[in-house]
Amino acid sequence: MAASLQAELSALLGAAFAAEGLDAAYGRATTSDRPDLADFQCNGALAAAKAAGRRPRDLADAVAARVKDSALLAAVEVAGPGFLNLRLSDAALDRALGAMAAERGLGVPLASPRERIVVDFGGPNVAKPMHVGHLRSTIIGDSLQRLFRRLGHEVVSDVHLGDWGLQMGLVITEIAREKPGLPYFAAGANAPFPAASPVTIEELEELYPRASAAAKADAARNAEAQKATAELQAGRPGYRALWRHLVEVSRAAMTREFGRLDVHFDLWKGESDADPLIGEMIAAMRAKGIAEESEGALIVRVAQDGDKTELPPVILTSSQGTALYHTTDLATILDRVRSFSPDLILYVVDQRQHVHFEQVFRAARLAGLLDGTRAEHIGFGTVNGPDGKPFRTRAGGTMKLQDLIDMARAAAAERLEEAGLARDMPPGERDATAEAVGIAAVKFADLSAYRTSNYVFDLDRFIRFEGKTGPYLQYAAVRISSVLRKAAEEGRLVEGKVAIASPADRALALSLAAYGEALMSAAEKRAPNILCDYAFGLAQAFSRFYTEHHIVGEPDEALRASRLALARITRAVLEDALACLGIAVPERM
Ligand code: ARG
Repeated sequence: MAASLQAELSALLGAAFAAEGLDAAYGRATTSDRPDLADFQCNGALAAAKAAGRRPRDLADAVAARVKDSALLAAVEVAGPGFLNLRLSDAALDRALGAMAAERGLGVPLASPRERIVVDFGGPNVAKPMHVGHLRSTIIGDSLQRLFRRLGHEVVSDVHLGDWGLQMGLVITEIAREKPGLPYFAAGANAPFPAASPVTIEELEELYPRASAAAKADAARNAEAQKATAELQAGRPGYRALWRHLVEVSRAAMTREFGRLDVHFDLWKGESDADPLIGEMIAAMRAKGIAEESEGALIVRVAQDGDKTELPPVILTSSQGTALYHTTDLATILDRVRSFSPDLILYVVDQRQHVHFEQVFRAARLAGLLDGTRAEHIGFGTVNGPDGKPFRTRAGGTMKLQDLIDMARAAAAERLEEAGLARDMPPGERDATAEAVGIAAVKFADLSAYRTSNYVFDLDRFIRFEGKTGPYLQYAAVRISSVLRKAAEEGRLVEGKVAIASPADRALALSLAAYGEALMSAAEKRAPNILCDYAFGLAQAFSRFYTEHHIVGEPDEALRASRLALARITRAVLEDALACLGIAVPERM
């Protein structure tokens, strides 16, 4: 597998720095800030000059003289105080495109070392509806799992259901009040219990808000729910049996919603799966001498000198003996490290939970649970409404995922209609296209905002076919397919060697050759927005290429064959990049 042109260039410059007696790392080439002047730049001479006691421009001149005859380069110039501006030769681009054309992997180098990565995302809670916060975790987490897999890493994704907290006690006690005759509640009730769930998903979704409101208004109700949670965790048979129903009913609904988004998990584990490991986790904390009693609870102090704000202690068990959010997350680390020995665990969770994860990671490291495993909280900002506050329904409730997808699909259907697209499709295909476009709009808008920024949910903007949107990119890919289809129908789909013959050819080739770097940098920074920018830039380069050239109609045979090859690679790269964002391209539009 070939290295990227950027990597080749860095190696070339690195060797030149080394020949000047300096560290080869100074040779790092980056994409130019001024694409009108150069393709790549290297700023190493400025930093290296200091170390070498030479004038930056002199050093830059010396490096330039060493590389100027390379076949990789058409031009190298020293600019300003000592920047190197580099322009690739067309021959180097032709060669890179030739490699991309020949290979299914599109010239993307596979990661080395290959790492094993657990991605914890989605994180919906049993009995509570999924909302836009879970949507963001789902979209970003899924993109990261796709990206890391694309680069050859081994990924284990885990939805990590919230199924062990107070909401379970709330719902159980609420059901006990509303349907006291059910067999789960009598003291000492034991198996067998009914095989079917006593509540449907619709009932369950209404039970939780009712129970939660009642507990907020009444301290006794809240205490009752806490007690039920403790009993559930301690293994009370009736509660466990009812709980299993609730988890199943919720899970079925979640699987449906995630499936609609084309998001899949390797593991459907929950907080409860860590329960059997809690004892051992706590024993590890005690063995290290870091667990201490405090007001009936068991805690671990994790504050460190130099912390800007005081980090509160981790609570291993509440004064009632229940497992809390810290508890299950710590025991889950033990489970994951033991089951997979991952190199890395990523937690794709709302930025507002950063204190929680800092506490958990510190306690885990203190106890030696994370030996050899890196853990990172991949935080993200909120999805806001036009008022700048977290996005809600018109009635002021949290927007349910299902409703949101329906909204996006309806908006997409309307927009397709207006644009005169999908008109000739049979109704089934038209619906499927509207759903694919609606979901692309929502996913792309979410991923193209930098992860930690908040963004405003503006469906009208997301769903446009112009500008930096998911639907625009889908349309761009479909349009390329139709060019290729037309060429095939006319018997003219004969691909040949890429041979750059115009500025638009060149700009497109340069964008295509940068694909591998875009993937790597998006993965390294855990920032799918880099890939969104890339895909948009590529679509724009294609659009110019398409406007300026006849492709199928090009009379010169070699040129036509080169342009068809460029079009085909563009289609493949665009589709591949969109796949890493979790966006599917319809057959036609
Ligand atoms: N269920 C949690 C929530 O809704 C998110 C879980 C995230 N993952 C984790 N390992 N804590 O906020």
